[in-house]
Amino acid sequence: MFADKLNHASLIDAMQLAKAAGAEVKRYPHNDVAALDTLLTASSARRKIIVTDAVFSMDGDLAPLPLLLELAERHDAWLVIDDAHGFGVLGQHGRGTLSHFNLPASPRILLMGTLGKAAGVSGAFVAGSTTAMDFLVNTSRAYIFTTASSPAIACALTQSLTIIRDGDALRTLLMARIRQLREGIGALPWPLRTSLTAIQPLIIGDNKQTLALSAALRERGLWVPAIRPPTVPAGTARLRISVSAAHTEADIDGLITTLKELA
Ligand SMILES: Cc1ncc(COP(=O)(O)O)c(C=O)c1O
Repeated sequence: MFADKLNHASLIDAMQLAKAAGAEVKRYPHNDVAALDTLLTASSARRKIIVTDAVFSMDGDLAPLPLLLELAERHDAWLVIDDAHGFGVLGQHGRGTLSHFNLPASPRILLMGTLGKAAGVSGAFVAGSTTAMDFLVNTSRAYIFTTASSPAIACALTQSLTIIRDGDALRTLLMARIRQLREGIGALPWPLRTSLTAIQPLIIGDNKQTLALSAALRERGLWVPAIRPPTVPAGTARLRISVSAAHTEADIDGLITTLKELA
């Protein structure tokens, strides 16, 4: 298994399960395709699997999926993609990060998406070739021994999928709010990570200061969680701003003004 260092905790746990099942796990520096290439070249494993978030959950940046797929082809590896934050938001009809990059379907891709974010319900899906899906349905213990989603969830999800498919106007609105935030927040003393997605982390650095800012925002009616190590690397405590199409222009203005006052 070849895993990005900044993968989501659920993928890190999955690597532990893979280890218990006999896999060897190598972690490569965040989005470092050259380092991954070196690791893949040095590996004599019979089966190789690259595992990555598509949109990194604490930074909002994208994995270089076209380059990762090219590496997967070259090294005959599988590419497992967690598109929790791309599904519903990026790409044509909200199909996700693969569509954002115009990548074709590939039998070596396993695409996972969660349903508790843009889809607004809960649960997750895995999509891939029929052979790969048959394999998971018959061997994945986490799937076999878990109760299926309830009919109420399935029913709500059917509606979510329609809203996502026809949701270009909502996505345009979201992108406008993201632009508004990024432009307005530029003058603050804290850097905003480069991110085109709904996740906009404002790096504060110090843990206590981050907690204090989050509490002060909350007192003023703004809910922006503080994220601290070990969830993120030491010294990069942050306010994890999540923008939504449901936010109004005034909401975003309110956040910008309040952050300026607090700064
Ligand atoms: C990248 C990523 N993968 C997986 C998950 C887990 O999703 P869920 O909470 O729906 O199980 C999350 C967030 O919760 C996430 O950010």
